[in-house]
This record gives sequence, structure tokens and C-alpha cells, in this order.
Amino acid sequence: MDLAVVLVLCLSCLLLISLWKQSSRKGKLPPGPTPLPILGNILQLDVKNISKSLTNLSKLYGPVFTVYFGMKPIVVLHGYEAVKEALIDLGEEFSGRGAFPLAERANIVNGILFSNGKTWKEMRRFSLMTLRNFGMGKRSIEDRVQEEAHCLVEELRKTNGLPCDPTFILGCAPCNVICSIIFQNRFDYKDPVFLDLMERLNEILRILSSPWVQFAEISVFGKEKNVSFNGGEYCQGTLTRIGVFGASVGILTDKEKQNQQLEFTLETLTTTVFDLFGAGTETTSTTLRYGLLLLLKHPEVTAKVQEEIDHVIGRHRSPCMQDRSHMPYTDAVVHEIQRYIDLVPSSLPHMVTHDIEFRNYIIPKGTSVLVSLSSVLYDDKVFPNPEIFDPGHFLDESGNFKKSDCFTPFSAGKRICAGEGLARMEVFLFLTSILQKFTLKSVVDPKDIDTTPIANGFASVPPPYKLCLIPLNAFSTSLLVMVQFHCRNNRNDFKLGKDNQENLKGYDGYENFLIVIIPANMRGGIDILTSLTSVPHDDKEFPNPEVFDPGHFLDESDNFRKSDYFMAFSTGPC
Ligand code: HEM
Repeated sequence: MDLAVVLVLCLSCLLLISLWKQSSRKGKLPPGPTPLPILGNILQLDVKNISKSLTNLSKLYGPVFTVYFGMKPIVVLHGYEAVKEALIDLGEEFSGRGAFPLAERANIVNGILFSNGKTWKEMRRFSLMTLRNFGMGKRSIEDRVQEEAHCLVEELRKTNGLPCDPTFILGCAPCNVICSIIFQNRFDYKDPVFLDLMERLNEILRILSSPWVQFAEISVFGKEKNVSFNGGEYCQGTLTRIGVFGASVGILTDKEKQNQQLEFTLETLTTTVFDLFGAGTETTSTTLRYGLLLLLKHPEVTAKVQEEIDHVIGRHRSPCMQDRSHMPYTDAVVHEIQRYIDLVPSSLPHMVTHDIEFRNYIIPKGTSVLVSLSSVLYDDKVFPNPEIFDPGHFLDESGNFKKSDCFTPFSAGKRICAGEGLARMEVFLFLTSILQKFTLKSVVDPKDIDTTPIANGFASVPPPYKLCLIPLNAFSTSLLVMVQFHCRNNRNDFKLGKDNQENLKGYDGYENFLIVIIPANMRGGIDILTSLTSVPHDDKEFPNPEVFDPGHFLDESDNFRKSDYFMAFSTGPC
């Protein structure tokens, strides 16, 4: 028989089989657009903006519908009600992880992100415990994030206020937090081992962000776009070199004693560590990068956040998580950034773990489920004008922070992001630390900044941009600065003013001044100046106060004498 005839016959058989398979399942699954044989609904979806295509389809087929990626049916959940009913009310049934062919090919399906069943349960519990409670050491996670926030600020300071693309530096900080938790050690941002790890993680995200990954089931696209990498080899390679081996073995021996079932094998642990890097680095850094872009675009929002930082934290103390409850506006801004950027528009694929009846449809065990997080984050009944960036979406009439069930950038239910707590801590502490120390300056007019994502496949990616980070004066502009002449000219007049540098310039030797800073924005509009010098130089307490004499602190028997007038560190609540 002619080769062409054989080919035509084979293709026809394939077509018939696929049509038969699709129609035999269709009666039970939710409705949806008619799929083409082999290709499914691929031509009806905009691969560059799947979430928009799904919204359009939901207008025709309702909040629960079926689309075919190739020959594979995928049930789509659109809108808060459907997502809640599935992921929360039927949490167990919808807790499976849908097939991710790329992960299978990369041999990384036995960690937490892409695993199922017992391995997933064990690895998730272990990761949550590690991330929530204490990392793997005695230092708290918050402590580690604060340390990294400090290093991030110092690294940004090195840009000297010149225009810079913040992508690299903002990528280092979240990656280093995970290094600090897993390896007990952070890296210098220039360490070649760290740079190698970062480069590989970026490469993986680049592959995953490709719109074709969504259709990798149709392997011809996968190969064409070269969307394959060997995760197994990678795990054994780079991560092993930088010490995960050591860390995993430590846990392994402990866990092996308790768990004879051996879910905690070296392989599962290595993949879990790999997953934490994969899931926890680019997500957080893209949120920070996108967040700064939005703050550049909306200087009035940035100014209000900085005012709140000045008021609650000041310029000198490191921000901490306790501050958040006193900073409703900043909290609302951080939530609005996450809502607006809609980082993972369709979450990761879910899968039903049993045959289930859902809204009068029958969804067979093993069917993939796509959760449209965009449809929840952009619900206009909950967030009026959802296309507009407005922190008011999370504030009530009195300016208090307002929680919303529709805040779902981390998804919901049993598969909800395992790093949610850490991610929220990082975004809050990194952003407040940056705004505490720098003024953000755009290199273009804020009105001309376009915040539309340049990619919207698996993750939303902001357009590239540059900004200048101008170090803020150590003294807040809302502080009054009192300058007391100290020695040198023996002058005891002082000058008040906002711009202390300018005021100081009129005096000889101003570098020798003792500068005392007092918050001016006290209630009632009354500025209070505290002349600390007047207390330790009080001649009733310290005779001849101008003379250096340890006798000022000794009694007649030469014992140390405490004095309430010793106020070198000021007084009152810290
Ligand atoms: C702003 C930052 C982040 C966002 C927006 C985010 C979002 C998400 C989303 C949407 C999922 C899929 C949930 C689902 O299947 O329905 C997920 C899963 C996951 N995330 Fe995150 N994530 C962030 C940061 C992190 C961090 C810092 C870590 C850990 C260090 C992390 C670890 C994980 C893990 C392990 C999973 C898989 C959970 C499972 O399958 O049980 N994520 N994340």
C-alpha cells in the first residue's frame, strides 16, 4: 500500500477515536465550546492571554465550563463562587495536582508542587512546618527576612541614585531568604555559586512563562520551543554543590527514624527543596518589581505610604511584622499590588481525586481543573473598577484595612501556596524597607508609565523599566531638628528648620554639633523641643558641668552614683 494512503488512514482513525473519546465524556462534563479533533479548543484561546480568553468563554458558558487542550478536557472554574465551592467546600476532592507534562519530563514530580497522594501530603506538611515555624535553625524566619531587607537596601544604595533596572537585585533577595532558611546561610549577591543558582532559576521561569507550556501536552509544541530541561539532573547538580545535600541528609536521618514508610527519601527532599526555590523566588521578586513600578506610576500613593512609615516606624528602626497592624494604608497598598498584578492568573493545574458530582455535572477522577484566579481578583462586584490600581479596594470609609475573601493571589483550599506567610512577610518588609530609605524617581513622566504586563502565560511579567533610588535624608522631613552648639565656638544659640544641612552651613565647625532629633508631628500640632544638653549640664546636679570629671558620678565613699540626670540616650518610651 502507498505510504500516503497509510498515513491518511492512520490520521482518519485518530480523528475518529478522538471524536469518539470527546463525545463519550461530554455528556457528563460541564458545557463548553466544541473542540476540534486532536487540537481541541486551542484555536479559540489566545495563548498570550489565556485568562482573558477564559473570561470571554465564561460569558457564553457560565462559571463552570470545559475546554479541550488537545484531546484533554479541562474543567474551568471562573468567579469566586465556583472557585470557593470547589477548592474550599470540596477541598479534598479538588486537591489533586493536574498533569504538568513539563515537570514529568524534567523528573520533578515527587516534591510538593507537582506531586500527589501521600508524597504530596508528607512533603507539604514538612515544608509548612519548616517555613512557618523556624526554618531549620534557631533564628526566626522574620529575623532572616529582616537581615536580607537590610542587605537589599545596602545593595540598592550602591546604585548611587542613578537610573537602574532593579530586576537582578530584587531577584537576589527572595532567593537568598530561601538559601538562609534551607542552607542556614545567605550569599553575597556577587558569589558565583549564587549567581549560577539564580541564572538557572530564571531560565526555568522563562520556559514556564512561555505560552506554549500551557499546551505542552501536545508534544510537538514542546519540542519546537525546546521546553525541556532536566530538573532531576539540576537538583543533583547545583543544589547538591551548594549544600542541600548536607541539609537534606540532616533531616533525612531524623525523619527516617520516625517514618518507616520512607516518603522522606533523599530524592523527594531534594525535589522539595528545588520546588521551594522554584516557587518562592521569581514569584516574590516579580511581585516586588511590579510593585515598585506601580509605586512609580502612583507617586501620591507612595507619598502616603512613606508618611505612614515615618509615623509608625521612623527612619532608623528596621520594619517588623508587628508594624503592619498599625499601617492600614501600607497594608492596603501591598494587597492592592498583589490583586492588581494578578501574578499567577490561572494558578497551577488542579485535578479531581475522585469521580465527583459538581453543580449537576459529573467530573471523572483524574480530570484536570483550571482555576481562574484572575476572575476572583478582578471581580467588579467586590472591587469596583478592578482595572484601576486603587488601595481603596482594601480600605473602609474610616481608612481601616478591609479584608476580602476575594484576595486570592495565593489560590485557596488545600493546595493554597505553601509559602504564603513567607511571601507576605517578604513583600511587606522589603517594600517598607526600601521606601523607608529611598525616594523613588521615575526616569519618565509617571503618566507615561505603562503597567500592562508583557507576558501573561503562566505568570504576569511587568514591562522592563528603570528607576532612580535617591537615598532619603537620615532625618525625616517631618522632624524638627534642634542643633545645640557643642564645644568649639561655645555658642549656645540654635537654629530650627526642616533642611538641617542648609541651616547648619551658616556656622563654623558644624560637624561638631550635637544633633538631637525630636518628632514634630505630635498630636495637637504642638512642637516639643527637648534640650537634652540642659539636663546633663545642669549645674545643680553636676557642679562645673563644663569640666570633664568622673567625680560627677561618684559619692563621698567613691562608690558609683546613679543620676536621673544622665540622659545621654534621652528618656521615656523608646
Ligand atoms: C508573591 C509570592 C507568591 C505567590 C503569588 C504565590 C502563588 C502561588 C500559587 C497561585 C500557587 C498554586 C496554588 C494552587 O495549586 O492552587 C502556589 C503554590 C505553591 N507555592 Fe507559592 N506563591 C508565592 C510565593 C511562594 C514562596 C515564597 C514559596 C516558598 C518558599 C512558595 C511555595 C509554594 C509551594 C511549595 C506551592 C505548591 C503547594 C502545593 O502544591 O501544595 N510560594 N503559590
